[in-house]
Amino acid sequence: MDKIIVRGGKKLTGTIFSSGSKNAGLPIMAASILAEGKYILRNVPDITDIQTMIKLLRIIGAEVVFNKNELTIINKGFSRYEAPYDLVKTMRASIYVLGPLLARFGKAKVSFPGGCALGARPINLHLEGLQKLGTTIEIKHGYIYAYTDKLKGGKIFFEKKSVGATANILMASVLAQGITTIENASCEPEITSLAHFLNKMGAKIKGIGTEVLTIQGVKTLHSIDTTLISDRIETATFLLSAAITNGNITIKNCSPVHLGFVLDKIKEIGFSLQISKDTISITDKGEKKPVEISTNPYPGFPTDLQPPFAALLSTIKGKSIIYENIFSDRVMYISELQRLGADIKLNGNQIIIKGGNKLTGAPLIASDIRAAAALIIAALASNGKTEISRVYHLDRGYERLEEKLAKLGADIERVKD
Ligand code: UD1
Repeated sequence: MDKIIVRGGKKLTGTIFSSGSKNAGLPIMAASILAEGKYILRNVPDITDIQTMIKLLRIIGAEVVFNKNELTIINKGFSRYEAPYDLVKTMRASIYVLGPLLARFGKAKVSFPGGCALGARPINLHLEGLQKLGTTIEIKHGYIYAYTDKLKGGKIFFEKKSVGATANILMASVLAQGITTIENASCEPEITSLAHFLNKMGAKIKGIGTEVLTIQGVKTLHSIDTTLISDRIETATFLLSAAITNGNITIKNCSPVHLGFVLDKIKEIGFSLQISKDTISITDKGEKKPVEISTNPYPGFPTDLQPPFAALLSTIKGKSIIYENIFSDRVMYISELQRLGADIKLNGNQIIIKGGNKLTGAPLIASDIRAAAALIIAALASNGKTEISRVYHLDRGYERLEEKLAKLGADIERVKD
């Protein structure tokens, strides 16, 4: 297992490029199940979650070639309709094959995802939605067995916004008979990009980017090429890494339009941002202040950035509060930040940070993708050496983060344990 070693105190400066979005790429890869043909996806990040989805598509029967961020998927018809436990346990997003397999073949067997570092993470909304479209579902031996003679359009109202359930139902409904409506749908840019991808394949989805999606089922779809949107969470991770070192960096090939609230909060803390269509520069202005943040579905503040922001706020004098409203258990990194000397604690869903303590390096353990990013950000501002283990979490979602940060001047390296 690899470790990341950071020696804090170096100011980040320079220019960096954003990678393509993991959370946009995963459902789009699953959508390739919906029609035979050759798909070319560009700007695909080389991270382990993408590798896991590649393995899954190969198990189902696709030919996949991944070369320098370009992914070619050849779907010549499939022979297996299964997402096995071994893959689903390493990546919950494996559940994305459920909707497309059902839509295309009328059957699927997908390992039931268990809990994870973020808590229970139920999939009831995925399953209830598919049942509304005419799917019979049985849970046996840890697996979801789903089958249908033919999916039929239906009215679905999500009692809670769910990115994954919206994606799964979208992919199921595009080949269903008749009209499907999804109310209280997620509006995340990754959902919007999936919907545009499906429409380019020949689907008829209306209301893209809104909370009400209307899908007129079609008989067939066709394969296409696309370029993934950039990863807004990675972009923000760079901004926070620069911010905590009082550095000045420029991020190119990013999508500021997907980071509304996030950029507002960075400005509110006291950093200066120069923003153009696909570039953001951050400059340190000197004076900083604490802030309050509430995580919410898009266009609200993303839960994925709650741990990285907490790392930055630990160094900003005064009391900041983050209200975590999506994943109540996304807090395991807190005790690790305490090991660096941060004054941060949990009260219900409130993360209360009395910022300004001097942080000092220590051995730390990463518990999930964004926790790993938060620990690295905090380590960049910590005096001395921080050693972060279980970085396989980081590698699930960030493309060579340590190399990119090193290019900006960070003293950071990967070592074999
Ligand atoms: C996706 C993202 C993840 C992000 C999250 C919230 C991917 C691969 N992952 O995860 O990075 O943090 O959105 O923006 O894109 N819920 C239910 N029942 C369900 C499904 C979800 O109660 O059937 C709840 C969840 O427990 C959570 C909330 O709904 O409290 C939102 O979860 P959801 O949007 O589904 O997250 P994911 O799609 O798993």
